Amino acid sequence: MNTTEVLRTAMGRRRFLGIAGGVAAAGAVTAACGTAGEYEPIGPTKAPSGNAAQAAASPTAMASSDHGAMPPAGAGRPSPSGKLASIYDAALPPLDPNPNKVIVLEAKDALIEAAAGVKVNAWSFGGTVPGPVVRVRQGDTIDFTLRNRGTMGHSIDFHAAQTPWNINYKTILPNEEIHFTWKANYPGAFMYHCGTGPVLQHIANGMYGAIIVDPAEGWRPAREYVLVESEWYLTKGADGNWDGDFARMQAATPDFVVFNGAALQYQQQPLAAAPGELIRLHVVNAGPTLFSAFHTIGAIFDRVYPDGNPANVLRGMQTYTIPPGGGATFELEIPDVGQYPFVTHSFAYTGLGAVGIIDVK
Ligand code: CU
Ligand code: CU
Repeated sequence: MNTTEVLRTAMGRRRFLGIAGGVAAAGAVTAACGTAGEYEPIGPTKAPSGNAAQAAASPTAMASSDHGAMPPAGAGRPSPSGKLASIYDAALPPLDPNPNKVIVLEAKDALIEAAAGVKVNAWSFGGTVPGPVVRVRQGDTIDFTLRNRGTMGHSIDFHAAQTPWNINYKTILPNEEIHFTWKANYPGAFMYHCGTGPVLQHIANGMYGAIIVDPAEGWRPAREYVLVESEWYLTKGADGNWDGDFARMQAATPDFVVFNGAALQYQQQPLAAAPGELIRLHVVNAGPTLFSAFHTIGAIFDRVYPDGNPANVLRGMQTYTIPPGGGATFELEIPDVGQYPFVTHSFAYTGLGAVGIIDVK
């Protein structure tokens, strides 16, 4: 019996999420039980061994385990509790029809909730992680300004642009700004990020976002969402909040793997869709290091457009790999009412918070 069959035949939502999200889903499971304020911790867990490990590896066996038995987060690791104070709006913003776009981004420090109650001293574009979704159209000219309102050097790198790195992507100091224009020649779901060294650190601390370039001829109408997958690597900060942990970044041992900056936020507030409606997901993997195995449980992607370019089409896809620094656009129609989790199918990381829900009703 595969996971989907488990959902359809035997399991209620609580247990199903326990399968889909592993340890992380325990948070949502607890919330679903109606114990407000409780939130099963997400974090490193005791690994079962021998036969127990084999049993735990079976979805059916996991389904029969009680969520109350989920082990706690490791000592010294962030332990989510309660609910996220705010939700990053995943809806694709409307397209401004003016072909000359004026875009200003501010690099600034910001206190960001990486998981419920886990506040991070982050570096950001615009005060959110990810930064604001930028939407333009193929052929547009972008008049761009980066202002550094932060406390160290920062820079910009648009994957959607063709422009000299040594001139336009150079680091600017606090209170400086840089201005340049570029043309969006290729449609797609692109990453933007700070490229100041160590890039690993600037990205992992929150300096990334998505720029969606619509094809010149446009997409057919759909319900459209933008999801940016990324990792948080944390250590306890002097102020009681959490700071980025460069050693954990280098070791690629994340505390959380998230969509749009916060663990499990689209379990707390699912993405809406109607039965049979065309859904288009623009997914960018900001990394900085892990690959995404993007998958929606209980659904099949009718079309996947690698890097979000309609010239690249794959049909009938179950799971699609998005590299760090890459993107893809997914189209699907879900015929039946129900809940459909989207995840990275790399399950060691799914369990760190990379689970959201498409709620079809
Ligand atoms: Cu930076
Ligand atoms: Cu890059």
